[in-house]
Amino acid sequence: MPGREWRQCEILTLHPAEQWRGAGTALIETAGQLARQQGYVRLWLITTNDNVDALRFYQRRGFCLVTVHRGAVDRSRAR
Ligand SMILES: CC(C)(COP(=O)(O)OP(=O)(O)OC[C@H]1O[C@@H](n2cnc3c(N)ncnc32)[C@H](O)[C@@H]1OP(=O)(O)O)[C@@H](O)C(=O)NCCC(=O)NCCS
Repeated sequence: MPGREWRQCEILTLHPAEQWRGAGTALIETAGQLARQQGYVRLWLITTNDNVDALRFYQRRGFCLVTVHRGAVDRSRAR
């Protein structure tokens, strides 16, 4: 039985039909509420380090940059 620390929720994709209209913020807030309701202790996602809009967006909404995997997306796409 996994411990509490494993109760994590991953956002697989976030792609509003129109940018800069507040949809991304609303979706993130809703995902956070759902994760909390389900008892998840961590909400996380992966993005690429060239996506500076996304990095700014997430960090301004309380997400922390915790790990950088150099070349991971290049390796994944090559496979
Ligand atoms: C990054 C992304 C997900 C953000 O979603 P979004 O819907 O554009 O985000 P929001 O509109 O909620 O907020 C973005 C900015 O617009 C501003 N904004 C929100 N509503 C606004 C409005 N009505 N008028 C002007 N500005 C507004 C917000 O203040 C915010 O600025 P901030 O980052 O300085 O706080 C989105 O731009 C996107 O889809 N990018 C391409 C796909 C992508 O990279 N997805 C993430 C991959 S992990």
